[in-house]
Amino acid sequence: MKFAGQIVWITGASSGIGEASAFAFAREGARLVLSSRRPDELERVRRACARPDDHIVLPLDLAQPGTFPAAVADALLRCGRIDVLVNNGGVSQRSLAMDATEAAERALMEVDYFGPVALTKAVLPAMRARRAGHIVVVSSVMGYLGTPGRSTYAAAKHALHGYFDSLRAEHWREGIRVTLVCPGYVRTAISANALGPRGESHGPTVATPARGIPAEKCAAALVRGVARGREEIFIGGREVAGIYLKRLAPWLLSRIVRRMKFSISAK
Ligand SMILES: NC(=O)c1ccc[n+]([C@@H]2O[C@H](COP(=O)([O-])OP(=O)(O)OC[C@H]3O[C@@H](n4cnc5c(N)ncnc54)[C@H](OP(=O)(O)O)[C@@H]3O)[C@@H](O)[C@H]2O)c1
Repeated sequence: MKFAGQIVWITGASSGIGEASAFAFAREGARLVLSSRRPDELERVRRACARPDDHIVLPLDLAQPGTFPAAVADALLRCGRIDVLVNNGGVSQRSLAMDATEAAERALMEVDYFGPVALTKAVLPAMRARRAGHIVVVSSVMGYLGTPGRSTYAAAKHALHGYFDSLRAEHWREGIRVTLVCPGYVRTAISANALGPRGESHGPTVATPARGIPAEKCAAALVRGVARGREEIFIGGREVAGIYLKRLAPWLLSRIVRRMKFSISAK
């Protein structure tokens, strides 16, 4: 078991990739700290994990960074240390750039960028003191490119790459490792939870799109990549080729992306 006895803190653990990652890390022997805004859903996930009594639920809103120091203190008190922080919680976007209100743009940046940054900074001192720790950040293929209807989401994910590449370089010699995870399409509730032009989410009226890999497959690749200490992990189908096209033939990618239609239910 690759993570036997390790303390793994997962945000966004109530659904989708975070939930599947909780199950995968638990199967590898990890003891989990499960966070998101919904305690009941976290409790459901905890009970469904291998060895449920090894794991704790720690509700947390990524848009409330003022609560993070107390949450970290609580996690350290109850678990003793944090070996791995998986910054997974996040929301997507379903609105054209010209329609998105500034309030909606700022709300998305709070959850997808400032939240993971602030939580990492709250966890980092304890990792530095032990000269060990692994920060995992769930970005996206959108961390490398932008498509119609995802301007702020793509901006937040791009920002994560710049920030966490710098953080990795700054703390490498102290034994801190950073992994950026870039999934393509994964079948989760992300479309239903995505923010519209005024920051509203569409809710269950938007069905989970059929395309994309199962969350379990994404989680398995995430856990495998983190165990191997990979700096970046690309996960998904042929859409992941967009990352390589952006580097090798950006003009071709631009042509493809220009033809894409904005759709609310597309991932
Ligand atoms: N699905 C995809 O195709 C795809 C592709 C690339 C990247 N990703 C990334 O994968 C991550 C997980 O998304 P998912 O696909 O699993 O979507 P999901 O099923 O909608 O899960 C999102 C998770 O984030 C949590 N969350 C949302 N807002 C939060 C907040 N303010 N504070 C704390 N937690 C919050 C949700 O929990 P609560 O509602 O309980 O707070 C939920 O557990 C995201 O970062 C997303 O950008 C997904």
